[in-house]
Amino acid sequence: MTSGPSSPPTIEAERRQLTVMFCDLVGSTPLSTRFDPEDLREIVGAYHRCVADTVGRFGGFVAKYMGDGVLVYFGYPEAHEDDAERAARAGLAVIDAVCRLTTQEPLNVRIGIATGLVVVGDLIGAGAAQERGVVGETPNLASRLQALARPGTLVVADSTRRQIGTLFEIEDLGPQPLAGFSEAQRAWRVLGESGVVSRFEALRSGTTPLVGRDEELDLLLRRWHQAKLGEGRVALVSGEPGIGKSRLTEALSQRIESEPHTRLRYFCSPHHQDSALYPFITQLEHAAGFARDDTVEQKLGKLGELLAGGAHGDDEVELLAELLSLPNTAAGLNLSPQRKREMLFEGILHQLEALTQSRPVLMVFEDAHWIDPTSRELLDLTLDRVRRLPVLLIVTFRPEFQQAWGGQPHVTTLALNRLGERDVTALVRGLAGNAPLGSEIVAEIVERTDGVPLFVEELTRAVLERAEQDDRVASVLSASLLPAMAVPSTLHASLIARLDRLGPIAKEVGQIGAVLGREFGYDLIEQGRDGPPRSCN
Ligand SMILES: Nc1ncnc2c1ncn2[C@@H]1O[C@H](COP(=O)(O)OP(=O)(O)OP(=O)(O)O)[C@@H](O)[C@H]1O
Ligand SMILES: [Mg+2]
Repeated sequence: MTSGPSSPPTIEAERRQLTVMFCDLVGSTPLSTRFDPEDLREIVGAYHRCVADTVGRFGGFVAKYMGDGVLVYFGYPEAHEDDAERAARAGLAVIDAVCRLTTQEPLNVRIGIATGLVVVGDLIGAGAAQERGVVGETPNLASRLQALARPGTLVVADSTRRQIGTLFEIEDLGPQPLAGFSEAQRAWRVLGESGVVSRFEALRSGTTPLVGRDEELDLLLRRWHQAKLGEGRVALVSGEPGIGKSRLTEALSQRIESEPHTRLRYFCSPHHQDSALYPFITQLEHAAGFARDDTVEQKLGKLGELLAGGAHGDDEVELLAELLSLPNTAAGLNLSPQRKREMLFEGILHQLEALTQSRPVLMVFEDAHWIDPTSRELLDLTLDRVRRLPVLLIVTFRPEFQQAWGGQPHVTTLALNRLGERDVTALVRGLAGNAPLGSEIVAEIVERTDGVPLFVEELTRAVLERAEQDDRVASVLSASLLPAMAVPSTLHASLIARLDRLGPIAKEVGQIGAVLGREFGYDLIEQGRDGPPRSCN
């Protein structure tokens, strides 16, 4: 596990959660009868390259080519909190890309995806042929689901479906008997993206009662009342993943529900960080009420209606139409790129100003750590502009996001801390409902989750589900159940992602710590390692 400066890094077998994709060419046997080996090799080569390029864009790792099949891992060598989502997006993109390949014969694929704990083994082969063996039933499940999929479709396991929430439109294929599995496995066909842009709504629950956060909510309410009087306010809500930034914002929305106001929501996305003005574009599309099957004319009509009151002149309407990729005459304006950008920004800000003339505005800008550079410029301007408007602008972000807005008089910063023991207990009880969770296990959940509400939700749910599966109420009452399931699958990815980001030494310490317990001294870590000491700075 150790590596000196000159020796190549060696990585040992490791238990981690992977999302595994298996992709196969449809009807390749007939292909081989119709083409000579040379042509066939060219066709299959183009197909392999297409799959590798496409999954690469989503962070997928091609582990193995198996004839016409391609085995791809998401979550290795680096884990991301959204590996399952990346895999699903990649799967849809592969189907699309392979269909559009200009080979001598049109090609089509079917794809299966499954998520689970696996042991990633040693490196096999060398150089480009390197592959990593994976042990566990997940690759097998992905491959069986692939065989089940109709040509040109993507089928995912229940384990994957749980992690993609409602981000995708899916069709339930029901429980499927699969070779090698004693129980029928539920399978889902992924049809496409669902268009839900709020990751909180798509992936998180928000259905349990809010616990704690009284002071934070009071502060936001005070800022809202100040903002309503025309002295705009900005609240910067920061905190680690799952701490409750979105939930707090949602709670404020609910509290002021009955007051006349307009709520504008902007969502940054980890998948659109290179897409200029993505949060502003999706907000406009949503506000205009675009439907997926609207014609261009219908969209233009809706956009015209939306902008009617606020635009300062037709030029702004043209620029906004261009922003939304609709037919426009913006090119005829003969503007320099710089001037055009200024006018576009002004156009968007004029819309906000116009809205504030009828009602105060609650503007929620979520997940700024994923913001694209152009949006960031516009957000800077917005922050400044709201000072003179009846607007409360709430910006949420994780701690890694760098900003220098905090010093301004109309800006409040709010760093969310972890929940206290009493609040966590209340949260566990709220989630458990009528299930008979013993106080011992509640205490264990409180202890293990460190006051991060997302962890509390996931671990409590995992405990309840396990109990239901086993149909052993007694097991719920005893804490002995917990150690085996200390990290629920929905959290694995985000925890490993954190460790991967910290680098190999932190991960090693984490792995040793997982064996030793929650608290351990440096000497124990040293004993746990199997190599010479390294500095941990
Ligand atoms: N105070 C709370 N009371 C009850 N549930 C909470 C509370 N805070 C958060 N939660 C729940 O915990 C989960 C995570 O919260 P949330 O999604 O708001 O975190 P976040 O800080 O926005 O995370 P991310 O950085 O990933 O967006 C959600 O399901 C939410 O409903
Ligand atoms: Mg959030």
